Amino acid sequence: MPFTTDGDRHAILGLIGNTPLVPLFFPEEGLTIHGKAEFLNPTGSIKDRMAACILCDARDRGLLHDDSIIVECTSGNSGIALAMVGAVLGHRVRILMSDTASVERRHLIGHFGAELVLFRADRGYATGIEMTERMAADDPRVFLPRQFANPLNAEDHRLHTAREILEQTAGTVDAFVSGYGTGGTLNGVARGLREARPGVRIVAMEPAEAAMLQGEAPCCHSIEGVAGGYMPPLLEGVSIDAAEKVSSVDALAMTRRLAREHGLLVGTSSGANVVAALRVARSLPAGSRVVTILCDGAERYFSTRLFANEPGAHRVTR
Ligand SMILES: Cc1ncc(COP(=O)(O)O)c(C=O)c1O
Repeated sequence: MPFTTDGDRHAILGLIGNTPLVPLFFPEEGLTIHGKAEFLNPTGSIKDRMAACILCDARDRGLLHDDSIIVECTSGNSGIALAMVGAVLGHRVRILMSDTASVERRHLIGHFGAELVLFRADRGYATGIEMTERMAADDPRVFLPRQFANPLNAEDHRLHTAREILEQTAGTVDAFVSGYGTGGTLNGVARGLREARPGVRIVAMEPAEAAMLQGEAPCCHSIEGVAGGYMPPLLEGVSIDAAEKVSSVDALAMTRRLAREHGLLVGTSSGANVVAALRVARSLPAGSRVVTILCDGAERYFSTRLFANEPGAHRVTR
């Protein structure tokens, strides 16, 4: 990773990345796909990679000072990751998040000592991003990671996530499937895999209710962390072979299935990615190797639709 572990306080940063690639066999479908277990990062999501990369780069280039305030707009996971990395680097962090982000995300950000500012979800990420730009214009202490546009977000995935996938598949990956929030994962992994394997198929997963790559207007959906009503600059120019629409209902059902059949405690975007990855695997010759991302853990979804009406959840045996 492009950062140093220069003391015990920063040691946690050395645990980011190098996540396992888990084979997932689906007997009903007769298919195996591979999930990159990003929920095993220290704060439980793929966003630890971006947070450590951007903040350690800023620190190394002298852009962070003792009184700096790190300010970012996020769907939650980036906020948790930036709050953690900011805490170990000794900086104040202020996170802007939509008012629909799960309460678990809000608590975790506060637990790392960061401030939280909520904005109305119906305005989309663009509103939150504008607010961060105004804060930076008004206060010279503000440092903006700009995860939606910062090339380091994608570059870290090109250099690390893609390399890990190539090593873990012995270079035999045939397709990569991922949703997008900032687009950092899709951009970076696509470029990194194509450098080594030009024929690899790159597929974007989109909520059926917000299939923006397919020209549809964004609408509300239950796949937190992806397609927040904003087309991120990091997706511009990324060559994507196909886009798969996944409904919130299918994503939720698969996320529950991943827990019950595979023992995987993951969030709804992971379920959505797996639905799309199975479709891609079905469309390719038998034995093709399809890799997707298991973005975050289930524990930050207790208050969401994922855990609503769980059968048997409240049964008491006397
Ligand atoms: C749960 C979840 N899934 C997927 C993503 C998308 O990742 P990226 O921002 O690299 O596009 C995010 C991003 O915040 C996320 O929180």
